[in-house]
Amino acid sequence: MSSPADDALIAAAREAARNSYSPYSHFAVGAALRFAGGSTVTGTNVENASYGLALCAETVAVGKAMADGIRGGLEAVAVTGPGDEVITPCGRCRQVLNELAQLGGTDPDILCVGASEVRRMKLSELLPHAFGPANLE
Ligand code: THU
Repeated sequence: MSSPADDALIAAAREAARNSYSPYSHFAVGAALRFAGGSTVTGTNVENASYGLALCAETVAVGKAMADGIRGGLEAVAVTGPGDEVITPCGRCRQVLNELAQLGGTDPDILCVGASEVRRMKLSELLPHAFGPANLE
């Protein structure tokens, strides 16, 4: 079941993927973060001629949000890939998302979006027993 807010988040992720800079993988990814109060921050993957330096869509979105001063309230994340299949955030992105989520004490829904399927998971399911900022207190 998806709500109108989730549908809007998925549309924002798909729209963000249109700006993907992925000339090497040709794998355009879009991500959209929804915060308490309803604001949205999007990201897309940004590759580099030095292939290993690619930035994932989710990481770019978290970087944009944190650069705008956001430090919590992360309620939901939508991630889209270019194919029909659902894609889930890579391991590094799970950890990057966890930083922002833990700062605000939330466990966001992660909407992994395919052509005709939305798989919904909690970040804590994707990254159980996470190491985060609380561990350094
Ligand atoms: N990618 C993402 O943007 N997010 C993920 O969670 C998985 C992978 C990007 C990185 C690279 O630009 C392309 O997808 C192929 O791996």
